Amino acid sequence: MPSTTGLRPYARAERKADRSSDNRRAALASFDALPWRERLFVRARLFSAPLATLAARAPSGRIADVGCGHGLLTALVAADRPDRTVVGIDPDARKISWALRGPGRLQNAAFEVAAIETLAAREPGAYDAVVVADVLYLLPVEAWAGFLQAARRLLSPEGVLLLKEAEADGSWKHRKCELQEQVMVRLLRRTQSSGGLQFRARAFLEQLLRDAGFKLSETESLARGYSTPHVLFVARVD
Ligand SMILES: C[S@@+](CC[C@H](N)C(=O)[O-])C[C@H]1O[C@@H](n2cnc3c(N)ncnc32)[C@H](O)[C@@H]1O
Repeated sequence: MPSTTGLRPYARAERKADRSSDNRRAALASFDALPWRERLFVRARLFSAPLATLAARAPSGRIADVGCGHGLLTALVAADRPDRTVVGIDPDARKISWALRGPGRLQNAAFEVAAIETLAAREPGAYDAVVVADVLYLLPVEAWAGFLQAARRLLSPEGVLLLKEAEADGSWKHRKCELQEQVMVRLLRRTQSSGGLQFRARAFLEQLLRDAGFKLSETESLARGYSTPHVLFVARVD
């Protein structure tokens, strides 16, 4: 069950409209110039994680997609939304090169090889939203607080952080997710770890968010219909 701690629950009809197939089609189309292997990867990613739901929650304005990978979430946020300008950053130069050849062609999307700390030092308070999908688990847990503090520094006083991770809830989805990521990171090397590979309970992340200067608006399970225990944290600058 979703647990809400403030904001009105996200209306079912609204979510359905936001996850419209038009948006997903436009986002996928931005990858058309990539080799089939990368297009297939992006398509599989779209169907295995609720990135369209996350993108739909983003406001207008300047948005940073931190740990953007191939740029699928950036594409979903930017496609057909000229009221948003999105910058995707990732330390993996290979992924940023795919992103540049894909959604980098959208008018309102840009990509850069960078760490969150670099962007936060360069453009403090410049973003209306920071979106992060499945990045923290790749960092050592000791680095999570610093990462969230940097996200906080990027945001304007009205800004919002949309953070999606998989939660360690002891379910079969959680165990499957751990196994799958071991394969992706250590065996196939499709995903680049920054020294970590671990999941934590949602309460752990909620506390870290508060400690980093956020006011938690909402925590929502997005696991339904997926084989991964996706959880979304919506946090505002406190
Ligand atoms: C599982 S992928 C998720 C990509 C994208 N957010 C998505 O949802 O499709 C995790 C990404 O985090 C990036 N990453 C790893 N360490 C990072 C760090 N310290 N800061 C930012 N991104 C990092 C990886 O390079 C990888 O592209």
